[in-house]
Amino acid sequence: MDSQNRLLVAIALVIVSICTATDVFGKNHMKNRVEAQTSRTREMQNISNFLNNVLKNYDKKLRPNAGGKPVEVEVEFKVVSLGEINEARMEYTMDIFFRQWWNDPRFKHNYTESFTMAEDASKIFWIPDTYFINSMKSSYHRVTKDNARIIIKPDGDVYYSIRLTLVLQCYMNLSLYPMDTQECPLLLESYAYTKQDVYYIWTKRGTNGIEILSKETAQFELVEAKTRKMDQNKISGNFSQLLSTFTFKRRLEYFVITIVTPA
Ligand SMILES: *[C@@H]1O[C@H](CO)[C@@H](O)[C@H](O)[C@H]1NC(C)=O
Ligand SMILES: *[C@@H]1O[C@H](CO)[C@@H](O)[C@H](O)[C@H]1NC(C)=O
Ligand SMILES: *[C@@H]1O[C@H](CO)[C@@H](O)[C@H](O)[C@H]1NC(C)=O
Ligand SMILES: *[C@@H]1O[C@H](CO)[C@@H](O)[C@H](O)[C@H]1NC(C)=O
Repeated sequence: MDSQNRLLVAIALVIVSICTATDVFGKNHMKNRVEAQTSRTREMQNISNFLNNVLKNYDKKLRPNAGGKPVEVEVEFKVVSLGEINEARMEYTMDIFFRQWWNDPRFKHNYTESFTMAEDASKIFWIPDTYFINSMKSSYHRVTKDNARIIIKPDGDVYYSIRLTLVLQCYMNLSLYPMDTQECPLLLESYAYTKQDVYYIWTKRGTNGIEILSKETAQFELVEAKTRKMDQNKISGNFSQLLSTFTFKRRLEYFVITIVTPA
């Protein structure tokens, strides 16, 4: 063998040994993964059994800590798309993911994993009866299944997310039309529970409560979304409210092209 051939053989040997090593490593890796997975599957089964047991004796009418400290509900909107902003009807439309977090001690357990379900939670356990005060129409997406996600953590923290299309009332001042900017509110509270039972806060999980995926419609641009916590004292009781204000600026180029330019 000349030196070149020897070099080739050496390289081939190195490659073979690397392949063997990775293969062994790969197999062990697989084995560990399969074991981890079956243990996780078992734990999921156990959590599912635990939750089934809890729900057997669960009273949906009773809020968490009924009679005790109020339930804190953390809220976030994710605006998926903005629909029509209608000056004549003074309405605007939004497609949102509406997310709420609260704690229900009845779901506390000693397993380590979070449990995820794709269900309409209102059919299963207590959820806050949050409603949108200035909503004219709201629809809940059910295609292909309820567009809902529940995550229950070991400490009883519940995350509930649903997809909604909201048609909301917004008083618009058109005196500066077409160079106008409109401020449209979205106001929510609990329908039945006063502050003594349920209160709302905007989430502090990285956003100020609103996350916006789409900022523009054909006619408007969303320039700002502000959030505020409000409280309303009514004769029927004191309710906790959250307000968000969306500032829409009319897109002049759209106006010029479609309205002023003769067709
Ligand atoms: C799940 O439950 C089974 C039987 O009830 C038990 O043997 C097992 O240890 C549990 N697994 C976990 C991960 O808690
Ligand atoms: C979890 O563990 C604690 C301490 O061991 C125990 O008191 C409690 O009952 C357990 N919770 C459940 C749901 O099994
Ligand atoms: C509408 O906007 C104009 C200009 O900003 C303002 O002068 C007027 O008071 C507003 N009208 C109402 C009813 O708010
Ligand atoms: C509502 O709030 C007002 C002012 O903070 C307070 O005086 C009143 O007692 C509260 N009403 C109830 C029913 O808690």
